[in-house]
Amino acid sequence: MSDPITFDGRVAIVTGAGGGLGRTYALELARRGARVVVNDLGGAVDGTGASSSAADQVVSDVVEAGGEAVANYDSVSTEEGGAGIVRSAVDAFGKVDIVINNAGILRDKSFAKMTMAEMEAVIDVHLKGGFYVSSPAFQVMRDNGYGRFVFTSSASGLFGNFGQANYGAAKAGLVGLSNVIAIEGEKYNVRSNAIAPIAKTRMTEDLLGSFADMVAPDQVTPLVMYLCSEANEYTHEIFTVGGGRYGRVFIGTNTGWFAGTDEVPTVEAVSEHMEEVRDISEYVIPLNNNDEIMLLGQMLAG
Ligand code: NAI
Repeated sequence: MSDPITFDGRVAIVTGAGGGLGRTYALELARRGARVVVNDLGGAVDGTGASSSAADQVVSDVVEAGGEAVANYDSVSTEEGGAGIVRSAVDAFGKVDIVINNAGILRDKSFAKMTMAEMEAVIDVHLKGGFYVSSPAFQVMRDNGYGRFVFTSSASGLFGNFGQANYGAAKAGLVGLSNVIAIEGEKYNVRSNAIAPIAKTRMTEDLLGSFADMVAPDQVTPLVMYLCSEANEYTHEIFTVGGGRYGRVFIGTNTGWFAGTDEVPTVEAVSEHMEEVRDISEYVIPLNNNDEIMLLGQMLAG
């Protein structure tokens, strides 16, 4: 049996923690000893409106269960909002050790019909929100030599989903952000991972159909708790989690077809080798640009 995971002495920010998945993270972090900033703008699923009641309710649930938390109602979608969220943690609890970037909205539309306003609203909350909160938090973590980030990506970004060009682009972008934070945070003991969850929440209950009742939010919580714990030794990874399944998603590259360097192949030659170009029976998972360049380097060296 491994040691129990606790967050004693740790300070956590959970964005969008007023309901759904975020609420479960805030409650469990606090139950295991963390002091938590419960951030939520309190709007509708499409991001319109605002209310303090969602965050307040979760703070009172935490306190009732014997934990410590403060509410924050800033929007993650502005630089001032992100700074305000991190300031809440520093003012109330003196630091930030854990950030779970979880706040999210939907403005689904097929690509042909999607307006740029619908694109921007979703990019602002998910992708820019990831920057606005994580940038000031990273500074605090770097100074303290400790940090854990969890970014909420989605199967819609990693694999694609009809009607979610804005959301898919934002969610894939968060994986890029997490990857770079993992690389740059390594020497400060800052780890960063992304998850693609599946859970019945107000955001998904109409989308998941009969599947909805088989995927409870609290089945996602244990993996997220592990990723933001001190015990977590993994960084720069993507996990898929929902309905009792805990797995990994990865971005790899295959050996491909090496055409040699004596001459540039013709279009026809590429066409003839497309099966080899696409063959994924052998692959590696590069952990930075150099890893991929090394792969080419080995081929060039013969
Ligand atoms: P939810 O709608 O219950 O939770 C999202 C929360 O974010 C809400 O409480 C909302 O008020 C808050 N929020 C929205 N905009 C905000 C802003 N600008 N600033 C601060 N808070 C804001 O939905 P759910 O499912 O719990 O979503 C959590 C995260 O998980 C989201 O990022 C979502 O995209 C992601 N996700 C969820 C999946 C699922 O199956 N439930 C699947 C894949 C990703």
